[in-house]
Amino acid sequence: MPSHEKQFPRVIAVTSGKGGVGKTNIVGNLAVALSQKGMRVIIIDADVGLANIDIVFNLRPEYTLRHVISGEKSLEEVMIETRHKIRIIPGGSGFASLTRLNEGQKLTLLGEFEALADQADIILVDTGAGISSNVLYFNAASDECIIVATTEPTSITDAYAMMKVMSKEYKSRYFKLVVNMTESEKDAKRVFGSLSNALDKFLKDVVLTYLGHIPFDRLLQQAVQKRSLLLDITPDAAAAKAVENIAASILKQEQSGHARGNLTFFMNKVFQTAT
Ligand SMILES: Nc1ncnc2c1ncn2[C@@H]1O[C@H](COP(=O)(O)OP(=O)(O)OP(=O)(O)O)[C@@H](O)[C@H]1O
Ligand SMILES: [Mg+2]
Repeated sequence: MPSHEKQFPRVIAVTSGKGGVGKTNIVGNLAVALSQKGMRVIIIDADVGLANIDIVFNLRPEYTLRHVISGEKSLEEVMIETRHKIRIIPGGSGFASLTRLNEGQKLTLLGEFEALADQADIILVDTGAGISSNVLYFNAASDECIIVATTEPTSITDAYAMMKVMSKEYKSRYFKLVVNMTESEKDAKRVFGSLSNALDKFLKDVVLTYLGHIPFDRLLQQAVQKRSLLLDITPDAAAAKAVENIAASILKQEQSGHARGNLTFFMNKVFQTAT
């Protein structure tokens, strides 16, 4: 790509079939690890239920995307910044109303998102759990989709269900797996193995790659209790090191070249899938 050409941020959704598997904590800690590696990171909190990325960073947003849609605030005014210079777009109930936007509102929102293109290298989308349409829109619109699963059978089944519906309804084919709360790497590889086997049998055109695993770590739970981020308070914890490894893998994959759409493309895809 010629150097004068605009670089678009890489939009990565972090999603899961089953809830409570660690998405929000992964997004928060991954954002810190990536920003420590020099990336400018924006987080979109697309969880319309109990949106809680702000809790992980111990911040309290005053406004949400809903205020941008209603025209009361600009996206710039709604975003909150963490002390790591990571910026968060609080979704609130804003994303739930995407399907009901008129053309003018859509254009406004597209313009606002387009202005972000120059301000980030990586955009992480913290989605809700499950195959509700709001989650699916964001997964389908993102450049990459990280599926988080644990070693629990229900979580594995639900991860499979997510890939199935994404491939059938949105023709998404590429997914990356993070196995969280593991006891060993063997555990994680077993989860990857059983998902890969199921895909080989029933969804041949879906490609799942292994991105990494994060051990079960009480220090992470302690960080949550203190409303702090693991990478901030106990950077030597096993789970913190694991997240750093995942951040490094994400950046390494970037060097091997990556096709990306721009942010207008991203939002347009959200609108299209939402109709
Ligand atoms: N690696 C880990 N080790 C130990 N506990 C963990 C780990 N990852 C997550 N947890 C625990 O799981 C809880 C839920 O995590 P989190 O809120 O990030 O999940 P989520 O997938 O975002 O949930 P939801 O689907 O509700 O959005 C955390 O509060 C923490 O107690
Ligand atoms: Mg969450």
